[in-house]
Amino acid sequence: MAWPAEDRRATAVPKDGEPPLLTDEMKKELTEKYFPRYPTRRAVLLPALHMLQHHHGWIPMRALAEVGEFLGISPAEVLDTASFYEEYWLKPKGKYLIQVCRSLACEIYGSKRVTEQIKKKLNVECGETTRDGKFTLVELECLGSCGTAPAMLINDVLFEDLTPQKINQVLDGLPEDAHKFRDPTVDWQ
Ligand code: FES
Repeated sequence: MAWPAEDRRATAVPKDGEPPLLTDEMKKELTEKYFPRYPTRRAVLLPALHMLQHHHGWIPMRALAEVGEFLGISPAEVLDTASFYEEYWLKPKGKYLIQVCRSLACEIYGSKRVTEQIKKKLNVECGETTRDGKFTLVELECLGSCGTAPAMLINDVLFEDLTPQKINQVLDGLPEDAHKFRDPTVDWQ
């Protein structure tokens, strides 16, 4: 049986005359730090995508084209790679990324109610970002916190033993400036 395949190797990504998203500093780091570690330039694609995402918070289409040009890979091939991994964000994320565990222990202990409460409170569906750009909601697999299910991450902070009531408290308590958000269980003094 033959699988229908889409040939996107000739896909063009328009350039808009803005400053490059793959900056000279990034190119220097890729050249000096990563090229010596890999057998070919194109093999550096995944670290380059991580670098772009770390820098911009997500990976715009123009950045995909720029990294393809730098590594000698067509934009369509870069897009195929980037879109294969859930780790890479190809659209902007909210300031707060809420990730609710949907694996077995959390499901048994009520993760669906938790997710529904977040959806209702923020008026978003899973995979969406609120209109003000503050929150993105996704579900993911086990966070390794099954003993305190249901669990979720907000950015890199873990919240456990969740209930719909606790969701309201947590979301209402988030600072407007996400840079001021800290794990409440850690002494930051
Ligand atoms: S099943 Fe949710 S943390 Fe393990």
